[in-house]
Amino acid sequence: MAFIVKKIINGNEYYYLNENKREGDKVKTKTLAYLGKTKDQAEEKMKQFLKDRVENNKMQEKKEEQVEIKESKAEQKQITIEELASFCKSKGFIFRSSDIYGGFSGFWDFGPLGIELFNNIKQNWWNYFVHQKENMVGIDASIMSHPKTWVASGHVENFSDIFVKCKKCGKTNKLDESELGKVKCECGGEYQSQGKFNLMFETNIGAINPEKTYLRGETAQGMFMDFKLVQQTSRKQLPFGIAQVGKCFRNEIAPRDFLFRCREFHIAEFEFFINPEEDKCNLLEKKHLNIIFNFLDEETQLKGKTDLRKVKLSELLEKKKLGSWHAYWLAEQILWYYSIGLTEIKIREHTKKELSHYSSATFDVDYEYSFGSKELGGNANRGQFDLTQHQKYSKSNMEIFDDKTEKKVLPRVIEPTFGVERIFLALLTKAYCYDKKRNNIILKIPAKLAPIKVAIFPIVKGKEYEKISQEIFKELKEEYNVVYDKSGSIGRRYARNDEIGTPFCITIDEDSLKNKNVTIRDRNTTKQVRVDIKNLKNILKDLIDGKIYFDSLK
Ligand code: GAP
Repeated sequence: MAFIVKKIINGNEYYYLNENKREGDKVKTKTLAYLGKTKDQAEEKMKQFLKDRVENNKMQEKKEEQVEIKESKAEQKQITIEELASFCKSKGFIFRSSDIYGGFSGFWDFGPLGIELFNNIKQNWWNYFVHQKENMVGIDASIMSHPKTWVASGHVENFSDIFVKCKKCGKTNKLDESELGKVKCECGGEYQSQGKFNLMFETNIGAINPEKTYLRGETAQGMFMDFKLVQQTSRKQLPFGIAQVGKCFRNEIAPRDFLFRCREFHIAEFEFFINPEEDKCNLLEKKHLNIIFNFLDEETQLKGKTDLRKVKLSELLEKKKLGSWHAYWLAEQILWYYSIGLTEIKIREHTKKELSHYSSATFDVDYEYSFGSKELGGNANRGQFDLTQHQKYSKSNMEIFDDKTEKKVLPRVIEPTFGVERIFLALLTKAYCYDKKRNNIILKIPAKLAPIKVAIFPIVKGKEYEKISQEIFKELKEEYNVVYDKSGSIGRRYARNDEIGTPFCITIDEDSLKNKNVTIRDRNTTKQVRVDIKNLKNILKDLIDGKIYFDSLK
């Protein structure tokens, strides 16, 4: 405790500020400052001194925090798929469907944070492939359609897996035809085929003479059936594409690995229609041809190997592994994955034996999940298969007039496809980090996809601080999903938001009132910068859009 002392030297009064401090078992008095020659002056100076001391202490704490910040490093942590599922449940990303009844195998619910991340992925995809492309439009077709759809598409006859049972442990699984006799059970036992099992979900429509139909197994058929209507109403000329993101249903024999293989899931895909005589893609640029990626070709797989090799897209074109339009869309697909931070993808060529009934060439986009390298999406050359089939079964002419060649043509189709749940899973797998220094999980989701973009923390109590904080909250809320958090220590508030991937936290402190500024804290590094409130919204926008790096803010 500090106190004023008066000393009389040669008959003159002098005032000092002293403080008693315990050092071991002794109490020592230390003079902190000279306060002047009058009592009033001394009291005034003491107040100022103590105020400055509080400020200085705070500055010192901030400096210490900065030192710690430089050393803080979150590292990616390998976790099992079960651990990830448990994390997702605890934070409100994903819940088991019908949890109160013990769950429902193959079905999942998105929680409050999960749906935000999921919607951000879908919006980002739509923006990249529909809004940013001149020759693409979107639709949202019905989930159930005329029963003939699925006969024409070949799904009723061909969309099946082989149902197998392990001879040793009795566990059931599904295999592709090409895997039969090659793939063994986890326990080392051999699988015995139980026959083919169709994956389409059957249902009945109507009360009187109910008619059998199916829940869609892919969104693609809606685009094929609406193809002419879309072309006429949106006045598109070949080549053009139709995109869709929506729910699909497959009666999977063995749903597993959390969201990886479910019975209800979302596909984002588009059908790109091209004049069958047009081989050359006029959109293919150097940036596409020069993309280098990890590739597993058919020849390597036929030798029973899985060695990846780095290839340039131009090499696959030269080797005629795919055509020019197919190459363009594969490149665009890869570029989109890169843009959301999934840079570790690999491309795997389908062997002739495993090609779907509708495809003449398919490339899978694979990702290294904690349970192995698995399919994230694909890219198939569907040729004229689907339009020919629908023409045959519906007896509607599916040809359109091509202005360029002045001929009626039945277009061929390239189809890039994306499993949205699998992208969600890959993003979370990659984002999950642990920071030893912070003793905390840090979810490094790219800012543009993060469920909550900004958290606002008033750190000083008082009406004025609350007022500024609320004003900032309301302004940012118009643009983003933002939270306002005034409970708990500042450390706890940061930790809570690091764990759910909030990229930026704003603190409102004493200086905010005086200088009309706030601090922005970066989730990945914990670095902080002070910015004027009037510039806050624009700076956050640039940070979230990836137009500026946090480190460039000084
Ligand atoms: N229209 C093409 C098509 O449906 P697909 O490979 O059968 O192709 C598209 O499915 C994508 O859907 C896959 O690449 C995968 O990412 C995802 N997918 C397939 N089955 C799935 C399942 N049971 N659960 C979650 N995602 C699945």
